[in-house]
Amino acid sequence: MTGLYPWVKALHILSVIAWMAGLLYLPRLFVYHAAARPGSDESNTFKVMERRLLRGIMHPAMAGTYVFGVALAATPGVVDWSAGWFYGKLAGVMGLTVMHLRLAQWRAAFAADRNLRSQRFYRFINEVPTLLLILIVVMVVVRPF
Ligand code: HEM
Repeated sequence: MTGLYPWVKALHILSVIAWMAGLLYLPRLFVYHAAARPGSDESNTFKVMERRLLRGIMHPAMAGTYVFGVALAATPGVVDWSAGWFYGKLAGVMGLTVMHLRLAQWRAAFAADRNLRSQRFYRFINEVPTLLLILIVVMVVVRPF
């Protein structure tokens, strides 16, 4: 797929950007949602925003990141499988995936008015995708090992 390769890479990066936007924005919505009274208009508005963000953007963007990333990695000669940086990147990707699944569980709890966690907790959680993104970008660009 020589001619296709840069297009697949562009789609990979576009998917990554959309996924990261959701991973950063959803916990920020939770920070404000945690302060809203369950059943209030404000809380119901957050529920709609959270559901649309997760289903309309984050699920498709994560799928795109994986599909295009695996297509790049499966292209002969692209990844040096003996170099450590790619496994460092994959560890970061696993971290983002776990984060995505946990966010989906917390969204379901908010949707059922069963959130048990504090604003402080979601503020802390909000920093995790940033740290993982820094790890992944350093692995991909600097390739330190
Ligand atoms: C299943 C998960 C993933 C796989 C298998 C994967 C694999 C790859 C591969 C093989 C490349 C091409 C490297 C090259 O052309 O030298 C690439 C590029 C890239 N990936 Fe991923 N990736 C995944 C997820 C992610 C995630 C989650 C991020 C960021 C949060 C990310 C960021 C990037 C960036 C910025 C590039 C462009 C690097 C460059 O052109 O040098 N990837 N990815």
